[in-house]
Amino acid sequence: MSSYREEGVRRVTAPDIAARKGQTPIVCLTAYTAPMAELLDPHCDLLLVGDSVGMVVHGLPNTVGVTLEMMILHGQAVMRGSRRAMVVIDMPFGSYEGSAEVAYANAARLMKETGAQAVKVEAGATIVDTIGYLVKRGIPVMGHVGLRPQAVLVDGGFKAKGRGADERARILQDAKATADAGAFAVVVEGVAEGLAREITQAIEAPTIGIGASAGCDGQILVTDDMLGLFDWTPKFVRRYADLRGEISRAVGGYAEDVRQRRFPGPAEIYFAKAV
Ligand code: KIV
Repeated sequence: MSSYREEGVRRVTAPDIAARKGQTPIVCLTAYTAPMAELLDPHCDLLLVGDSVGMVVHGLPNTVGVTLEMMILHGQAVMRGSRRAMVVIDMPFGSYEGSAEVAYANAARLMKETGAQAVKVEAGATIVDTIGYLVKRGIPVMGHVGLRPQAVLVDGGFKAKGRGADERARILQDAKATADAGAFAVVVEGVAEGLAREITQAIEAPTIGIGASAGCDGQILVTDDMLGLFDWTPKFVRRYADLRGEISRAVGGYAEDVRQRRFPGPAEIYFAKAV
């Protein structure tokens, strides 16, 4: 991992992403560690240090238990591993909903301590003023509407949204208000077919879809899902690899070699120097 300054590599910025509205689709993935960020960086426009890290890496049942400290540690790792992609960091549950001032203090801490270029907030009607407050004070904000994982306890599970007319109208309104408040992009998650297209046409900011159709301005997936690191994948995920199978085969081979004393072999041991 060499310094991008030394090589003159310029990171993608929030205005670069905003300018991609209606252009070639914006490629985004989640990242939580330095080695994975390094692998994803050449292919992605934007890396999200998602609070999904709580479930994917820390084994939590949902994202509610994720803390600022967890986001800072993973954000620092992703910044170290990446050089070109824009890095956005999720504000965890409880760090921005109370007041705009608290949200500002926590967002500023996330950005100062990680070097990430923007924060993401799950954007319902109550948070719109906070988005405006952050943006006016120099913090680029990405919104997140539709299925909002931090609302899992209120919703009673991770359920697709916008299947009824009322909910559809509310999500469209959430997206419009989020974009009008100054968000440079809006994640649209888990919504019924057609709604993501409607949102994409209605707002100026690019939409980044996850389970929201190809009608968005870009796409994001949880990297571990698309690499097949879990035995269960949500309907909207396409698996591009079976790393769970690969890891299981590799570890099984190692275990068998150790038990049969086939590992380590002559090539994997040190010999005393001849005197
Ligand atoms: O936390 C996360 O990974 C996310 C993406 C799924 C959009 O919010």
